[in-house]
Amino acid sequence: MRKMEPGSQRVLFAATAAAALAAACGGGGHGGGGISQEDQAALVAQGQQIFRFETFGDEAQWSDKLRMHEVVGTAVSPEAALAVGLKVDAQALPAAVVQGIQDGSIDLKSPATTIALLKLDAVVGLKGTVQTVGGKDALTRLGVTCALCHSTVDNSFAPGIGKRLDGWPNRDLNPGAIIALSPALDAARKAVYLSWGKGKYDPRFNIDGKSKPVVIPPAYGLEGIHSVTFTGDGPDIAYWNRYVAVTQMGGQGSFSDARLNLSITNGTTDLVSGKLPALQAYQLSLKAPPAPAGSFDSAAAVRGRAVFEGAGRCASCHSGTLFTDANIMLHPPGDSMAEPEVPSYAARSATGLYRTSPLRGAWQHAPYFHDGSAATLEDVASTYNTRLSLGLSPQQISDLAQYLKAQ
Ligand code: HEC
Ligand code: HEC
Repeated sequence: MRKMEPGSQRVLFAATAAAALAAACGGGGHGGGGISQEDQAALVAQGQQIFRFETFGDEAQWSDKLRMHEVVGTAVSPEAALAVGLKVDAQALPAAVVQGIQDGSIDLKSPATTIALLKLDAVVGLKGTVQTVGGKDALTRLGVTCALCHSTVDNSFAPGIGKRLDGWPNRDLNPGAIIALSPALDAARKAVYLSWGKGKYDPRFNIDGKSKPVVIPPAYGLEGIHSVTFTGDGPDIAYWNRYVAVTQMGGQGSFSDARLNLSITNGTTDLVSGKLPALQAYQLSLKAPPAPAGSFDSAAAVRGRAVFEGAGRCASCHSGTLFTDANIMLHPPGDSMAEPEVPSYAARSATGLYRTSPLRGAWQHAPYFHDGSAATLEDVASTYNTRLSLGLSPQQISDLAQYLKAQ
């Protein structure tokens, strides 16, 4: 296979051609559908760059409107950034910076260090423009990327600093607390954002004015699932990526959906549409991470499988190798163990229903259910047992949890 050089014309051309092809076959092309393996790899590589670094021009929201660059550039130290769950990509750090962090000569309490890290593209999900003002580096624009919520790091260098793990939801991130730093918001709005807590975000608050955040879900393990979001709002990832890029991130482009009675256009140039095929290809390439060896009891997991498929009746909805019937049907709100809730998340969505959550990688992303109301997989199992009167013994509940941990 050819080596990737993301900047080269050759790869860009191949990727664009592949993107056009992928779009022509519905955007779900996977090596098949006439795309050569090489072009598919180029498309995925381009999608990775978009996922990590593309703002779609959302600086219009985060800088022009929310003036986040003013706060981040003057008052947010790396320590403060790590405290709200932001992550640092250790692989983007040159040796001298690594050395400086290790020997303490680089000050992690200084906002100037945050600017230096942004200049290196090392803060996961934030994209800064750094310019020299009065002989000093200053942050003049700031935007966000998909990686902000859907990537974390492996902490291999220090807590919050390590190798990127794309697709893993950042459940340490407190998006509400970050937005609340904006000097452009009034106290009432800040209070709403501050109420959300870490690992959660409400992608409908700025649309319907209601506030009840959902947990940030993984963006991995979605290949073969033709229904995205907790509520199955769209048939493919690209549907939701357009929604988020335009209506949440503030990217330049359009989103409309008659079911939501929603039509939004930001700016006059579409910076979103052309990037969706590659972005989708990248996400579909992200596999759910396997459970770490030794993280579950394998004998109990074998027994738990029998409960999952038998007395627990789980497999009636969590069916097939992807553990979901999402390609066949969605479910009424009452089938979610997080309902009834006020306001109901399903009622705010395009479908009014819930998708059976796929379970691959479930070990990785506690808490569970769309509202994060089950802290552990044991809690999930015992919630079902109680709510559905399954009559499972404590042993069966614990075995079921071990089976879920193994996925
Ligand atoms: C501020 C945090 C945030 C950002 C930024 C963000 N997302 Fe999300 N994403 C969420 C939340 C919260 C949900 C859950 C919404 C739902 O399912 O109803 C979600 C849902 C998703 C899903 C659905 C997963 C599934 O299981 O069906 C995908 C895919 C996704 N996001 C990809 C992206 C991409 C690509 C971008 C960049 C264009 C992006 N997200 C930007 C928070 C974010
Ligand atoms: C009637 C269909 C149905 C049955 C039966 C069912 N589930 Fe679910 N499951 C769902 C739906 C729908 C969701 C999404 C609920 C939400 O997020 O509010 C879900 C969510 C989950 C989650 C959370 C996943 C995540 O990413 O947060 C787990 C774990 C789970 N189910 C395990 C089980 C187990 C174990 C059983 C059997 C005891 C079971 N389910 C039975 C439909 C079902």
